[in-house]
Amino acid sequence: MKTKFFPILFASTLLVLSMPLASVAEKNIPKVDKEFYPYAPSLIKWDKTSAGFNEPATCGECHPDKFEEWSSSMHAMAFQDPVYQGELHAAIEAVGHDIARQCEGCHTAAAVVQGEIKGAGFKGLSPLAMSGVSCDVCHSIKSHTHWQTPTHQPENGSLVLSPGKEGPDGPVLTKYGPFPPEEGCGEGFHECVESPLHLTSELCASCHQVNHYETHTPLEATYTEWKNGPYAVNNIQCQDCHMVDIETFKRSADDFIRPQRSEYRHYFNGANFLLYHLSELAAKKAGNDELAANAHKKFEMAVARLQAAAELEVSPVYRNGNLAEIKVRVKNKRAGHNLPTSLNNIRQMWLEITAKDGKGNILMSSGTVNAAGKLPEDVRIFNSEGQHEGFHFAIDPWEIQSFGKNNTIPPKGYSDVYYGLAAPKGTPLTIEVKLRYRQADQKVAEKLLGHVPEDINLEAIYGIKEIPALPIIDMINTVVTINK
Ligand code: HEC
Ligand code: HEC
Ligand code: HEC
Ligand code: HEC
Ligand code: HEC
Repeated sequence: MKTKFFPILFASTLLVLSMPLASVAEKNIPKVDKEFYPYAPSLIKWDKTSAGFNEPATCGECHPDKFEEWSSSMHAMAFQDPVYQGELHAAIEAVGHDIARQCEGCHTAAAVVQGEIKGAGFKGLSPLAMSGVSCDVCHSIKSHTHWQTPTHQPENGSLVLSPGKEGPDGPVLTKYGPFPPEEGCGEGFHECVESPLHLTSELCASCHQVNHYETHTPLEATYTEWKNGPYAVNNIQCQDCHMVDIETFKRSADDFIRPQRSEYRHYFNGANFLLYHLSELAAKKAGNDELAANAHKKFEMAVARLQAAAELEVSPVYRNGNLAEIKVRVKNKRAGHNLPTSLNNIRQMWLEITAKDGKGNILMSSGTVNAAGKLPEDVRIFNSEGQHEGFHFAIDPWEIQSFGKNNTIPPKGYSDVYYGLAAPKGTPLTIEVKLRYRQADQKVAEKLLGHVPEDINLEAIYGIKEIPALPIIDMINTVVTINK
């Protein structure tokens, strides 16, 4: 008897003892070594010498084609982007100035290490700080610290910047790129160093993997999505889709063939057609037609990329001989990561469907935006939803600690959506399905753009008095006739 009783007593004692511990849940937050990462919460590092960074216009004197391709790219816009500035402003107000280093470590890295961190706004900043992810950010990247980060993965700018070294007669600039060193490379302005890193996704990883500034929860995981997918296995890197034109990107995605060296371009073109549109407005306002045309070209490229990304399949589902449901399969055909990716708690990609009978009467519809730009509650949307500490809905990156939902579509994967639609067999139906995309919900965009710091005047820069209805792009539009 006694021996049987004993373990029970023991177990219950343990239970009682452990209760206070469990109720004061201990947080498992990784510590950041501030000596190793002096700009924490950004994990950027700087090999400090007397060699400085140069602004893009200087590089552009000898590399005019690269300069033109990079201009008005999202990298060129990364700091001046008014959506970013609005959110940066809100971040600093919410949790204090230190968080600015985390944001700026990716949005304008050279400014952070040079101590040009003044918070949101443009006042008193050098052209280098204003130029965001500039030439000399990427081409000063000597190495990364992906295995030394708190998560032992690339995150929050875990790159080492080394713009140059001390030479016998003063500083010598060193630029890291794809070529083996050649006599005269850099024409006396800089030395050249061959960098295999620049030909892989690892270069992009540190900035395209955004983790929470304290808990290190992955918030934007484009790199990991890519790494866990078929493109990584088949040696198709970020550069092979984002540093080439549309036709070459399609070939990389469809045939897993890496582009030739001569095919690479500094476009870094993704999905953000809204920002290209704003850049075009700004260039026009400033009277720079050439830059406006450049931004417009990038707008068209982003739209074309979105329109090449997915595929739709619409099919009827019958039960007991009658039509019961419409099945829509959305395939991620050409995005190297999830579709959508990155800020997918903000980006909106959804299905709009309309089913009509032979006389044109609407039998069923879903996903139509109302006049105020709002999506209906029951919309079928592919996104993620962040939650804060108490597991309630949260949208801001300093609040999100987990995700309550994520139904973005993995690379080369698909997602099925069903719509109930009862009709006897033989009733002909016309079904129109659209896959639609915009950068954000209208209200979210209004909030962020409405919160830019005082020295950014949207009317003076972009010529906009109020936030217009956000443009929506149809990624695909399919009309099928079924149930005949
Ligand atoms: C690890 C690098 C990194 C850090 C840290 C980071 N960002 Fe970003 N941010 C990015 C990248 C990459 C994108 C582009 C993603 C995309 O376009 O989907 C982006 C996009 C954004 C956008 C969307 C811009 C637009 O035009 O739609 C906002 C807003 C933003 N970041 C704000 C912030 C704020 C505020 C912080 C700090 C709290 C921050 N970011 C920290 C890398 C970073
Ligand atoms: C986001 C990172 C990034 C930025 C910003 C960037 N580059 Fe590059 N650059 C790369 C990568 C990656 C390659 C290698 C791809 C290739 O083979 O062209 C490259 C290649 C190059 C090359 C050698 C390839 C050739 O065809 O000559 C030059 C020169 C160059 N970049 C100059 C520039 C200049 C000038 C700017 C600014 C106007 C710039 N880069 C901005 C990432 C970047
Ligand atoms: C005085 C002219 C000159 C200036 C200014 C200049 N470069 Fe270069 N750079 C060259 C030449 C010439 C080459 C070799 C041929 C080529 O790639 O165009 C070169 C090559 C490169 C390469 C390829 C290195 C490799 O080994 O793969 C990169 C990257 C690069 N430059 C980046 C930059 C950046 C960034 C700046 C601005 C900080 C800059 N360059 C400014 C002349 C210049
Ligand atoms: C130093 C950090 C940094 C590095 C390195 C970097 N990026 Fe970015 N990238 C950003 C930031 C920040 C943005 C977002 C700017 C914004 O939205 O305001 C961005 C935006 C982009 C976009 C545009 C996204 C859109 O919504 O249209 C693409 C595409 C992109 N990067 C690709 C790359 C590729 C490919 C590489 C590697 C060759 C790379 N990036 C390296 C920081 C970086
Ligand atoms: C096989 C081609 C392919 C590869 C490889 C690829 N992408 Fe993309 N990427 C796309 C397409 C297509 C889109 C537009 C659809 C979308 O937003 O997902 C896109 C969109 C993006 C966006 C904009 C997201 C948004 O909605 O704001 C970013 C940022 C980005 N890619 C970064 C990367 C990075 C970083 C890598 C490497 C880790 C990478 N991509 C690899 C094809 C690719």
